[in-house]
Amino acid sequence: MTKWWQHATGYQIYPRSFQDSNGDGIGDLKGIQQRLPYLKKLGVDFIWLNPIHPSPNVDNGYDIADYRDIAPEYGTLADFKELLAAAHALDLKIILDLVVNHSSDQHPWFQAALADPTSKYRDYYIWEKPIFNEETQMPEAPNDWLSIFGGSVWEWHEASQQYYFHTFAKEQPDLNWEVPALRREVLDIVTFWLEMGVDGFRIDAISHIKKAPWSTPYDALRPFANFQNVPGIELFLQELGTVFKHYDCLTVGEASGVTAAQAPAWVGPHGYFDMIFEFDHLDLWKKTAADSLDVVGLKAALVRWQKALADGRGWNALYMENHDLPRSISLLQPPKNLEEKAGKALAMMYVLLQGTPFIYQGQEIGMENYPFTQPTEFDAVDSRHFYHELVTTGFEPREALSLVGKTTRDNARTMMQWDESVFAGFSNVQPWFQVNPNKEHLNVTTNLKNSQSLFCFYQELLTLKKNNPALNKGRFTDFQPENQQTFVYERQIADTRFLVMVNLTPQIAMLALPQQVENAELLLSNVEVTQSLGDTHHLTPYEARLYKIVTPANNSEEDIT
Ligand code: GLC
Ligand code: CA
Repeated sequence: MTKWWQHATGYQIYPRSFQDSNGDGIGDLKGIQQRLPYLKKLGVDFIWLNPIHPSPNVDNGYDIADYRDIAPEYGTLADFKELLAAAHALDLKIILDLVVNHSSDQHPWFQAALADPTSKYRDYYIWEKPIFNEETQMPEAPNDWLSIFGGSVWEWHEASQQYYFHTFAKEQPDLNWEVPALRREVLDIVTFWLEMGVDGFRIDAISHIKKAPWSTPYDALRPFANFQNVPGIELFLQELGTVFKHYDCLTVGEASGVTAAQAPAWVGPHGYFDMIFEFDHLDLWKKTAADSLDVVGLKAALVRWQKALADGRGWNALYMENHDLPRSISLLQPPKNLEEKAGKALAMMYVLLQGTPFIYQGQEIGMENYPFTQPTEFDAVDSRHFYHELVTTGFEPREALSLVGKTTRDNARTMMQWDESVFAGFSNVQPWFQVNPNKEHLNVTTNLKNSQSLFCFYQELLTLKKNNPALNKGRFTDFQPENQQTFVYERQIADTRFLVMVNLTPQIAMLALPQQVENAELLLSNVEVTQSLGDTHHLTPYEARLYKIVTPANNSEEDIT
């Protein structure tokens, strides 16, 4: 049976930077509500909101202090219910970010755990006594594992003479999933929101909830492996699934460290979630910030997931941007004036793969990285650490600034560019974070005025995907995996094939057509195409084309070369 999310597109909203409705410079729920018609126009079906709960914002909302309320700067629970109803009235669904690998250190559970080591909440977190080192005659942490945001995973608590564990920042203590009472709390939180009518969750950092034995050595090649998809995690995830299965909800797990081969266990017919965000293509994609794109590697990663989850073994979540990444067009670094064309090439390349596409706010209008000029402009906790680390290990401040500037997730967090006005239509006061000066020409208003814009290209892609079952459920086949410039693949059901051809480089790419090309109808491209498909022997820089090819019934299987 087809589920609603199998013919849907998601739109990710970073609430702080999307739309301010009350002039305090911070995006909010009412602002999102005002913009629902815009999302409807784009053609998406559901929205994923980054965390909207009360938080001291050490990690911009990923440090939650109350799982059942709304952060005052975003609005109230009543505002949220109103937003949910308004979205549903437009046939848009909303999923929330479920952040339960860790809480904020300001959460009442952690505060109780700090105040009283005999409190029942002490067990909700992970505590260890120091180990006495015979050699140095000093007490030390249980092991030398490193946290994802830098430094040890262990933080010392002087009053109780114990360490607690944190996968991310020290203000984000990990919750102890080994403890049944904690797991019950999580199930209750999930139920609370699903009963309110929320349509599902993006589940944050969920591959980290199980930890290896503390004696497991640290491995610099796989630095976080000791808390990534560690055996035993399946029991916790299955238990979580017992709640989800009572609702027609969508669950998408953030699953770093889960390989394509392991993915069917996570998202197959008996999997824990409906889909996961994989990190295979992402790691390669991120490297592009410092280097040119490894086309062969990127294709190999994407294709590996397409194949691993084919034939009912699972379902993919497709994405090129999110709140943790620099902007995709900036990663690709196309020459001047080819930015929009490159954006369209990327769009066609990933949206038409098998799976549910996610669009990150501003991606649809081609937003780009911010031109950072000073280290004080960095906001993300990990980027500030990274800059400091570079400078203390001998990098010139200018070099460090450039390196962090190109790679920081802050690039995704500048204000949504609605128009060319001074604060880009986001707010009428100075926003909490930067507005990219390129809002002058790069904004929603200019995109909506121009029928050839990136926005309109996304609109067309989503419509095509929705109206053609082969683009949704069709068999995926890629061609010429070793080609260093192009990504060519088809999606096929019975006698109908859709051929996707994308040049991912700033050079002309020669093209050897993979198949018979009679009856080819051009459905979408990012250039004006004058020759027939049969006469096409190359693609211009970042050219992208989509064809529909209907093969007469009697020779439908013989034309793949
Ligand atoms: C996830 C989020 C990221 C956050 C981290 C810790 O990776 O996407 O933004 O910093 O988890 O919660
Ligand atoms: Ca506001």
